[in-house]
Amino acid sequence: MNTENVTFLDHPLIQHKISMLRDENTGTNEFRKLVEEIATLMGYEALRDLPLEDVEVKTPIETCMTPMIAGKKLAIVPILRAGLGMVNGITSLVPTAKVGHIGLCRNEETHEPEEYYCKLPNPIEQRTIVVCDPMLATGGSAVAAVDFIKERHGKNIKFMCIIAAPEGIDRLMKAHPDIQLYVGHLDRCLNDDAYICPGLGDAGDRIFGTK
Ligand code: PRP
Ligand code: URA
Repeated sequence: MNTENVTFLDHPLIQHKISMLRDENTGTNEFRKLVEEIATLMGYEALRDLPLEDVEVKTPIETCMTPMIAGKKLAIVPILRAGLGMVNGITSLVPTAKVGHIGLCRNEETHEPEEYYCKLPNPIEQRTIVVCDPMLATGGSAVAAVDFIKERHGKNIKFMCIIAAPEGIDRLMKAHPDIQLYVGHLDRCLNDDAYICPGLGDAGDRIFGTK
């Protein structure tokens, strides 16, 4: 597994909240809140290299030059549906971020993604792009999403997932070795239905209360 551009976020708060997510007794309301909180904690780490610029601010004492985030150049791109659950967690850190959407759904037999929607901020090439999806399983959806973004000239791409299987990390980093991948927890493997083990089940269904 090529882990050169992969960051495993081992913060105890992230690990604790992921364990709560996994519990089959965690209901929709709590699940949604946890996904949002984890996205905020992961975003804090994933955005630590955002560029700063010094701006002039007048304090009650004196005027000084002090650093602020340079420009408003972030795009958040959730992979529908489950990625939507992470968006508010990241916009709570960067409220001015633009949000694009990529609609992908795994075919239940082939486990390969099928596209049904793509709308991204335009132009996107100058932006830092944070793609989010709670689950990186076979990696098919992640690779397809990054393909779409690159076709539209996106360059500086970060991918945030809460739980990843080794198979997914391998496939994504082979296809797109230039992106930065942030992983909440690395799980053991995929089962015959391409679900992550131990995982948390179907993230979309658990966020939206479907099934
Ligand atoms: C899930 C998940 C990822 C994808 C991961 O979405 O949210 O997008 O599967 O699997 P992969 O790595 O094997 O491609 P799903 O297709 O179930 O759609 P949903 O979010 O609408 O439920
Ligand atoms: N999608 C999910 O929601 N969960 C998995 O375990 C795999 C793909």
